Amino acid sequence: MNKILKKERLNPTVVRMELEAPLIARKALAGQFVILRAEERGERIPLTVAGQDRSAGSVTIIFQVVGGATMALDAKREGEYIADLVGPLGNPTEVEGLKKVAVVGGGVGCAIALPVARRLGELGAAVTSVLGFRSASLVILEREFSDCSARCFLTTDDGSRGERGNVCMPLGRLLAAGERFDAVFAVGPLIMMKYVAETTRPYGIRTIASMNPIMIDGTGMCGCCRLTVDGKTRFACVDGPDFDAHLVDFDEAIRRSRIYEGFEQRARERGCRLLRKEERR
Ligand SMILES: Cc1cc2nc3c(=O)[nH]c(=O)nc-3n(C[C@H](O)[C@H](O)[C@H](O)COP(=O)(O)OP(=O)(O)OC[C@H]3O[C@@H](n4cnc5c(N)ncnc54)[C@H](O)[C@@H]3O)c2cc1C
Ligand code: FES
Repeated sequence: MNKILKKERLNPTVVRMELEAPLIARKALAGQFVILRAEERGERIPLTVAGQDRSAGSVTIIFQVVGGATMALDAKREGEYIADLVGPLGNPTEVEGLKKVAVVGGGVGCAIALPVARRLGELGAAVTSVLGFRSASLVILEREFSDCSARCFLTTDDGSRGERGNVCMPLGRLLAAGERFDAVFAVGPLIMMKYVAETTRPYGIRTIASMNPIMIDGTGMCGCCRLTVDGKTRFACVDGPDFDAHLVDFDEAIRRSRIYEGFEQRARERGCRLLRKEERR
């Protein structure tokens, strides 16, 4: 059981939670994730460690409420407990030696990108952050990215904040103007990461995608999180979650991400019934 020390809503569907987890807080590095269950009979879901406070013994997660498991987690209140939390899992993002990096986040992918941008900033790298959202009401973590970036670009699909369009537009413009990065780190919807990879490919810039396939055990046993990278099968939980974006088969990953749509829809409907009465009103 892990206590919820703090809960805060960042936008209508994104929640930040601080959880008591001293052992994970001591070990977690940027790019790693945890697998948690809100309820004992609930689904196991992977969420990135968005931050940790080693002295307080807590880790922060930032999650979007998209279906049954995240609804059950969101139904918990500050001071209550989640069933369990394992981690840190996955490999930390390789940040050593990078001097100039673009960190590209789409939607809740910004929560996964933030610890990487922070770590790069701490190591003295010049970070260019490019953040994309559907509209102004969904913008999250802008101040946190500004604090650790040399410059920050913001786009919205509908133009209600920042530049109208998607993250590939400012990124493509910078590259076309001759800007070069040691690496581009991208995290967000699969389609976004696919197009970031296509934007950087002509320039031969190392591009890392943080992949988020469905995971169950998180230890390389079930094979659920498999991806094809450079023609070979890789498990995101133990070989990733970061991969060379120019070598990932994104079309296959997109097809696989849709396999459970029917089950997810039913779980969402069940999840709605799990919400507290007062929250349904
Ligand atoms: C390494 C990793 C790190 C992640 N970090 C974050 C994060 O920091 N914040 C965040 O909001 N989301 C993160 N995700 C995605 C998050 O795990 C899913 O949104 C969550 O599992 C959805 O569960 P659900 O039951 O609420 O939704 P569902 O309705 O079941 O699913 C909605 C969508 O979430 C994805 N999903 C469902 N179950 C899983 C699962 N077991 N594993 C992975 N994806 C799943 C599917 O793409 C699905 O289409 C991460 C995923 C991975 C693999
Ligand atoms: S989640 Fe089972 S092998 Fe990766």
